[in-house]
Amino acid sequence: MVCLQYVLMTIVFLLGENLVADGFACNWGLQASHPLPPDIVVKLMKDNGFDKVKLFEADPDAMEALGKSGIQVMVGIPNDMLAGIASSVRVAEQWVERNVSHYLSNLGVDIRYVAVGNEPFLKTYNNKFTQITFPALQNIQAALIKAGLGRDVKATVPLNADVYQSDSGAPSGGNFRPDIHALMLSIVKFLSDNAAPLTINIYPFLSLYADSHFPLEFAFFDGGAAPIVDGPATYTNVFDANYDTLISALEKNGYPNLPVIVGEIGWPTDGDTNANPRLARRFNQGLIARINGGRGTPKRPTLPDIYMFSLLDEDIKSIDPGNFERHWGVFSFDGAVKYPLDLGRGRNLTAAKGVRYLARQWCVMAPDADLADPSLGPSLSTACTYADCTSLGFGSSCGQLDARGNASYAFNMYYQTVNQQKGACERFGKLSVITRIDPGYHGGSCRYVIMIDAGKHEVAKKPRTSAAAGVVAGFVAAAAVMMVVVELVSG
Ligand SMILES: *[C@@H]1O[C@H](CO)[C@@H](O)[C@H](O)[C@H]1NC(C)=O
Ligand SMILES: *[C@@H]1O[C@H](CO)[C@@H](O)[C@H](O)[C@H]1NC(C)=O
Ligand SMILES: *[C@@H]1O[C@H](CO)[C@@H](O)[C@H](O)[C@H]1NC(C)=O
Repeated sequence: MVCLQYVLMTIVFLLGENLVADGFACNWGLQASHPLPPDIVVKLMKDNGFDKVKLFEADPDAMEALGKSGIQVMVGIPNDMLAGIASSVRVAEQWVERNVSHYLSNLGVDIRYVAVGNEPFLKTYNNKFTQITFPALQNIQAALIKAGLGRDVKATVPLNADVYQSDSGAPSGGNFRPDIHALMLSIVKFLSDNAAPLTINIYPFLSLYADSHFPLEFAFFDGGAAPIVDGPATYTNVFDANYDTLISALEKNGYPNLPVIVGEIGWPTDGDTNANPRLARRFNQGLIARINGGRGTPKRPTLPDIYMFSLLDEDIKSIDPGNFERHWGVFSFDGAVKYPLDLGRGRNLTAAKGVRYLARQWCVMAPDADLADPSLGPSLSTACTYADCTSLGFGSSCGQLDARGNASYAFNMYYQTVNQQKGACERFGKLSVITRIDPGYHGGSCRYVIMIDAGKHEVAKKPRTSAAAGVVAGFVAAAAVMMVVVELVSG
């Protein structure tokens, strides 16, 4: 008996060892005015133990850099391509030929998944993609099989956590959203038939952002929250509760073992009072500890693959969802470390190497310029139309600046975003001047950036509008007010 117990314990121990993740997974978004060179990004991922990446589209430069990198890739199809792919097998085949087969065989990109669309059933899309997503998934799957990739590359659809909810308020009451219930069952059956995973994005930050009564502690993994008991299960954080709500929905509809991937999860560092490096560090450190420990949820003892959102900040993403939208990166836009993270096995988060910056100079408000100058308002508004001023808002990293510091910040953002172009700082007339002294707000967290040298000197494009950024709004809108847990906690 004792002996058997010992054997069992050894087996459990060995299994446990095997369950420990070998690496981390992340999202690599490209909505930046000055994206880091792809080879630097790939090196950054490798240096920090990321061995899986999710791309929102098959960007040729990113794909090329990932070739023979040893990093596994989930490559996305933007929502605006779904209609074409849904209505034509040929279009789907061409997409697979060009954006999967080509990169796999010619460039050695280790593509494992195709993400068909991005959160296409978000309520904010008003059913725009509801009818076309499943046919697009079917056509891509068929094209993968035809290309001989049916076994190695799986098609999935990254969905927002708002595709399910809880009838009872507790995770055990999970079921799919009534308006898309039948559609979700068709998709789930299709994924199951093809041995493909369901991909879900879960955002504790957005639960908190959407509801001022959401208990802050419940957003984190470090056990500060009062436990919530649901039958035999106990929950101390919203991630576990949300994930198990999905597992309950799958169980209830006959797919208890369907594999799941968490496609996005993260915490922003700026643009909201709860978006700061302290809380982002707390959240991501807890997440990393979970990933390293491999411990799953009450309903699924094995932790799924979890793609952190995001690797880098993106300064031209739509801010329709909120100013925090441009600050999801574990790293700044330039690959700088925003806050320390212990990655386990004696490793710390390390910054990108080999980044080239523009000259160390800033455009600031001239010392003798008058704050009452009537052209100041229009000048600031011009600067902030072309450049990212989301750090200036209330509760943000530069929200404490006085009027001069504030104007300097806006002028500098503009100047940097247009690559310190000749005449750019002069655009604001006598209000602005170039300086070589770092105007940094000493004692605060506000950073007057120097932009990456992208080797281009044309005028910066206007930021994308909400229409163009529809796809982008998607990542966020995981806005999914985790109804479940909100109810669960208040009731
Ligand atoms: C491959 O993907 C890129 C990026 O999304 C897209 O622009 C291109 O049209 C795709 N190619 C084909 C043949 O569909
Ligand atoms: C990691 O960072 C901590 C401080 O945050 C430091 O004490 C430790 O020595 C670092 N470890 C390594 C391996 O650099
Ligand atoms: C700071 O700049 C922003 C963006 O131009 C502007 O909306 C705001 O009024 C300014 N705040 C102060 C205190 O000057």
